[in-house]
Amino acid sequence: MLEFKSVAYSYSNSDARCVALHEISVSFAAGKHVCIVGANGSGKSTLLRLANTTLPPSSGKILLDGQPMAELASHEVHRRVGIVKQDPCVQIVSSLVLDEVSFGPQNLGLTADEIKRRSKQALDCVGLAGFEQRSTYSLSGGEQQRLALAGVLAMKPDYVLLDEITSHLDLVSRQRIRSIVDGLADAGVGVVEVSHYVQDVQEADAVILLEQGRITWQGLPGELLESPELLKRSCLVGASGCHAGHFVDANRAVKRTKGGAVALCASQVSMDDILHGVSLEVGAGDLHIIAGKSGAGKSTLAQVLAGLIVPDAGKVTCADLQVQPGAVGLAFQRVAEQLFCDTVLDDVMFGPQQGGMPEAQARAQATQALQLLGIEEELYERNPLDLSGGQARRVALAGIIALKTGVCIFDEPTAGLDAVGREELHAVVATLCKEGCTVIVVTHDIEEWLAQAQTLTVLDTGHVVWSGAAKKAKPVLVRTGLINSSKSSEEQGFLAEDYQ
Ligand SMILES: Nc1ncnc2c1ncn2[C@@H]1O[C@H](COP(=O)(O)OP(=O)(O)OP(=O)(O)O)[C@@H](O)[C@H]1O
Ligand SMILES: [Mg+2]
Repeated sequence: MLEFKSVAYSYSNSDARCVALHEISVSFAAGKHVCIVGANGSGKSTLLRLANTTLPPSSGKILLDGQPMAELASHEVHRRVGIVKQDPCVQIVSSLVLDEVSFGPQNLGLTADEIKRRSKQALDCVGLAGFEQRSTYSLSGGEQQRLALAGVLAMKPDYVLLDEITSHLDLVSRQRIRSIVDGLADAGVGVVEVSHYVQDVQEADAVILLEQGRITWQGLPGELLESPELLKRSCLVGASGCHAGHFVDANRAVKRTKGGAVALCASQVSMDDILHGVSLEVGAGDLHIIAGKSGAGKSTLAQVLAGLIVPDAGKVTCADLQVQPGAVGLAFQRVAEQLFCDTVLDDVMFGPQQGGMPEAQARAQATQALQLLGIEEELYERNPLDLSGGQARRVALAGIIALKTGVCIFDEPTAGLDAVGREELHAVVATLCKEGCTVIVVTHDIEEWLAQAQTLTVLDTGHVVWSGAAKKAKPVLVRTGLINSSKSSEEQGFLAEDYQ
């Protein structure tokens, strides 16, 4: 049993003490899968950090199978309680995949054979067999997430803490992770998982709702999922009642007429072994989706489209000119790569000021973008590194929106956002498109963007396997396993034909 007894935690910021958790008393049992839900900034990651002693409680006690955690040696805690962090990059320490997954078992003093066996088993389990000799830095966001999980599985811990581990994964990988998690609980491991996805919550044995650092509800998934009020409070659904994967098309951007101007065009772009002759066109004012399995080359393509990587072959044009860095705003998949100023406001003002904008105007644009993304004023002076994952994502997106470039690319923009944040972002994108901005979204949450988009490209191992109107994309997305098949008989009929 992992027990919290009246645990509180405060972060001490330069400006003020921020109470992240108040009087938490809760137990996590072996063999049970508990999901923690709550809005961005409600204290979920903080709770997990306390549960593996990354943070010491400000008051109260945490017990591991009856023993105070504070009295256990750190290697003992790490052997028994594994964590996959919200940003998996921060926990990857080795440069080779095999070294990374064997790092933990090596520290347990196991035989070489056992280390090899565990490492292989863990990589197979998360779908990374064959990646042993790959550099960890070259992995896609989703592959890093799976590697971090493999590293924890190889330790065979008694408890695992999972912080939004499906946020950068495609549908098939998400389903694989779901069955791994079920298998862990069945094998007697205590699983504590943080998620913003309804699909993750419905599989759990119990759910805990955190609101502003307090546990305000605990119960069964069914009780939460059947209560519109609890769903909203947990931010699993937004104000309009939609959850990840099921956004309505109320925000649909103005319809484009055929043959409109092309804002961004890639022709025959190739890059190392990652992209192979990729061509695509995005119409001015359109929303374009780039979809594809984890590791398909989407983020590399995003950087090439933004002019940040010069391809080995082929070219990218923006408004008929060769794309230059700065012409296209790109919000990175990993927010940590984008946030570097001392305060949130400075960070969002940085881009516009770099472009030569006077301070007052940059401040006005930054403030507007922060408001659009729902960042409260009290966070403006906070160091961006001292934010929750979802807050940091919002700030990073605001930094790109404040640039007011004619083309914006958002790489996995909804990863880490609660349903309210997602809704806000969808509305922002609809407004941007209405104002004539062209938006490209690279995403695994395809269904929630599909109704809003005009066009879509499916990438697979660096090749474009399909490109066309978003409203015709469902069959190919189902066929490639990127979305679940819809139950509508009309579509089923269409699919059956398609397979013949
Ligand atoms: N390093 C830090 N320094 C100061 N404050 C922090 C730090 N990390 C988090 N906080 C604050 O503590 C509160 C809880 O943050 P936490 O990361 O636990 O939230 P969360 O529920 O995991 O959110 P998300 O869904 O966005 O990941 C937030 O108000 C956040 O701004
Ligand atoms: Mg978090």
